[in-house]
Amino acid sequence: MDGMRAITIPEFGDAGVLRLDEVKTPEPGPGQVAIDVAYAGANFAEILYRQGIADVPLPFVPGIEVSGRVRALGPGVEGLRVGQPVAALTIVDSGGYAEVAVTAADLVAPLDGYDLEPGLAAALPSNSTTAFLVLDRVARIEPGESVLVHAAAGGVGSQLGQAARLLGAGRVVGTVGSAAKIEAARAFGYDDVVLREEASGRFDIVVDMVGGPARRSSLDLLAPMGRMVVMGNASGAEDVGIPANELWLSNKTVSGFNLAAFSAAFPEEAGRALRRAVAGAASGDLRVRVESLPLEQAAQAHRRIESGRTTGKLVLEVARH
Ligand SMILES: NC(=O)c1ccc[n+]([C@@H]2O[C@H](COP(=O)([O-])OP(=O)(O)OC[C@H]3O[C@@H](n4cnc5c(N)ncnc54)[C@H](OP(=O)(O)O)[C@@H]3O)[C@@H](O)[C@H]2O)c1
Repeated sequence: MDGMRAITIPEFGDAGVLRLDEVKTPEPGPGQVAIDVAYAGANFAEILYRQGIADVPLPFVPGIEVSGRVRALGPGVEGLRVGQPVAALTIVDSGGYAEVAVTAADLVAPLDGYDLEPGLAAALPSNSTTAFLVLDRVARIEPGESVLVHAAAGGVGSQLGQAARLLGAGRVVGTVGSAAKIEAARAFGYDDVVLREEASGRFDIVVDMVGGPARRSSLDLLAPMGRMVVMGNASGAEDVGIPANELWLSNKTVSGFNLAAFSAAFPEEAGRALRRAVAGAASGDLRVRVESLPLEQAAQAHRRIESGRTTGKLVLEVARH
């Protein structure tokens, strides 16, 4: 077998199920690109896969984003070349925690001409792309609008505050779950950062990826014609019902966003948002605090994310290219 090293999920469960395995090296199909992976981002999404949120065939290689170099082009791919440094979303078919990952060419962003560390480049595809899409495409942010972002010191939260600023927001406020994270969140450019239960006022846009009580209070914090975007449930709380009559009576809107489903349905648009995120990071407009662990420590990365105590972004070093 033409094999490679990969982290696999042989059975659903806690972080202890993750295994470093030898698996078959994937080949690119029509419209796809194979990437020699340098770094793979570590995300909440991969924890959900590991826990069995989706009925995926096992063993399963997790990993929704990578950086690296183009290894091979599938039939019909133009505009990319073998050896080219890239960042990519592997979110539709997964497989990023591996020496070689395959994804649609539309979901690949060239890094030529940019002075971007590969570790940083692997931290952008999911969270930074999501931040732009949530605010621009879903919430349709207008210049001067106020924005509230929960879990503001986290991977995606740290990107949402900065993306809001780049998109012309007015006041941008973050919430965090503990006082220890206030300074970390402030460093990402929020006008103000408060403990989640102390959030007050009215906002044009509220982004909730925490769920539970935060979801209910997010609705209360919306201004008339305000938009709330539901994009995660990091707290693991029971789903919170959205009272439709309240939306009707108070002119509020609730939308959902999921990058995997969006990238499958609109790959060109997801790719454009990814390239925007890459350009933002390369120019210094978008800052990401990245910490790297070796691929072998994927389980440790998962445990740290699940603890809820991390700030910024964890990436897994797969190989040096
Ligand atoms: N829809 C999409 O396309 C999309 C894309 C990217 C991320 N997401 C979602 O966004 C959320 C954050 O992802 P991330 O990668 O930014 O992860 P992260 O950096 O680990 O952020 C998660 C944060 O959620 C908060 N949290 C509250 N209760 C928690 C609990 N019981 N366990 C763990 N964390 C808890 C914590 O912040 P505090 O301490 O401030 O409470 C934690 O730092 C996840 O739910 C993820 O699925 C969705």
